[in-house]
Amino acid sequence: MKFFIDTANLEQIKEAAELGVLDGVTTNPSLMAKEGIKGEENVLKHYITICNLVDGPVSAEVISTDFAGMVKEGEKLAALHKNIVVKVPMIKEGIKAIKYFSDKGIKTNCTLVFSAAQALLAAKAGATMVSPFIGRIDDTNWDGMELIAQIVHIYRVHGYKTEVLAASIRSSLHILKCAEAGADIATCPLKSITDLFNHPLTKSGLEQFLADHAKVNG
Ligand code: G3P
Repeated sequence: MKFFIDTANLEQIKEAAELGVLDGVTTNPSLMAKEGIKGEENVLKHYITICNLVDGPVSAEVISTDFAGMVKEGEKLAALHKNIVVKVPMIKEGIKAIKYFSDKGIKTNCTLVFSAAQALLAAKAGATMVSPFIGRIDDTNWDGMELIAQIVHIYRVHGYKTEVLAASIRSSLHILKCAEAGADIATCPLKSITDLFNHPLTKSGLEQFLADHAKVNG
């Protein structure tokens, strides 16, 4: 399973990249706004900076909600860098745009997916990746992980090449469950990735090893 980081924060992207386990980055308009990135020129520059930090797919989301607008924006984004993946919302116009981009060889990430039916449409349209939001489903008292397993099953049975990119991850347990369910990618906040390191027996075991070494070596 590939690990992406879900942020537009450059320090966090650098920190995750330095771990050596980072495969890509996802952003969205809320994450860009959180970093105070505003104005088209600054937004485009920020995407290029991210692409120069991580050698892997970088999802950049369109703001338009009509086909023509999405195509115009998406083509501009895709021209920024070879690693840009155009992120398109799961709406009718978005599906049309994904089909258009797919026919032109432009990579896409279909976002805001909350059902297997939507994921099926995204795959039919030729999306490179599909982003089911598991944390937000959990927030509504449904199990987001069940959706990941259902989409993985449908894609495998029918041979769709679209990658399942589990998004809206809130914990290291989510990451582990995504790996179990067969997600191709998990896009995560930095903390969920670094929490994967934690185990009390690793900590106490290392302390013991170092103390025993010090006892005989001074
Ligand atoms: O990748 C989608 C993600 O950014 C949404 O996460 O925590 O806002 O549901 P969250």
